[in-house]
Amino acid sequence: MKKLEMIYEGKAKKVYNTDDANVVIVDYKDDATALNGLKKGTIHDKGIINNRVTNHLMKMLEKEGVPTHFIEEISDRETIVKKVSIVPLEVIVRNIAAGSLAKRLGLEEGVKMKRTVLEYCYKDDALGDPMVNEYHILAMEYCTKEELDLIASYSLKINEVLSAYLKDLNIELIDFKLEFGKTADGTIVLADEISPDTCRFWDSVTHEKLDKDRFRRDMGGEEDAYKEIMKRLLGE
Ligand code: TMP
Repeated sequence: MKKLEMIYEGKAKKVYNTDDANVVIVDYKDDATALNGLKKGTIHDKGIINNRVTNHLMKMLEKEGVPTHFIEEISDRETIVKKVSIVPLEVIVRNIAAGSLAKRLGLEEGVKMKRTVLEYCYKDDALGDPMVNEYHILAMEYCTKEELDLIASYSLKINEVLSAYLKDLNIELIDFKLEFGKTADGTIVLADEISPDTCRFWDSVTHEKLDKDRFRRDMGGEEDAYKEIMKRLLGE
């Protein structure tokens, strides 16, 4: 597989074309942003940790019947994935109130909700990724009803698989963000990443935050938190 020109550079990753039209290479960076790009920094080795943690979880999800874009990890920071067109939605899955939901509904962070909450945001940085509901999604044709139903059912399944797996590692899965893509043949697959950048992970016993909130909230200790997640998930 030959790595060709860069086709996209985002906040945390670069994407390169390859000599196979159906696959691209993702290259994870240490750059960290928060507050829709207003806060910038780096977290040492974040790219390595997010690449390896994402691939570990995607492989597990594939085995559990959730199709993903993952093909092969080729280096510490690089992974071959299926080329997809991204459905322009961020799917947020919430088990415990935190972050923007706690703020919006006036809840204390850490309150367990009676059932899982799914939220959708329209992916548009200039608009600040506004929250949308199913009516907006279908009216704006961000995807079809069938695709949205599939995305919702995959998201809930991912929540079940990951919550159970992480519980055994003494990690509470508070909430997380997913993105889905469509392959050339129209199949919906899980894309992007699942990492401490995109999930809230709390230690089950101490409730210590082991995720990007340490960076977002200037708490310090983000490098150790990311390392701790890699150690618990991959044993190193
Ligand atoms: P929120 O409470 O700020 O809405 O975030 C909910 C979850 O989604 C949290 O685990 C962080 C993740 N997230 C992203 O990965 N990217 C984003 O742009 C946002 C807003 C949240």
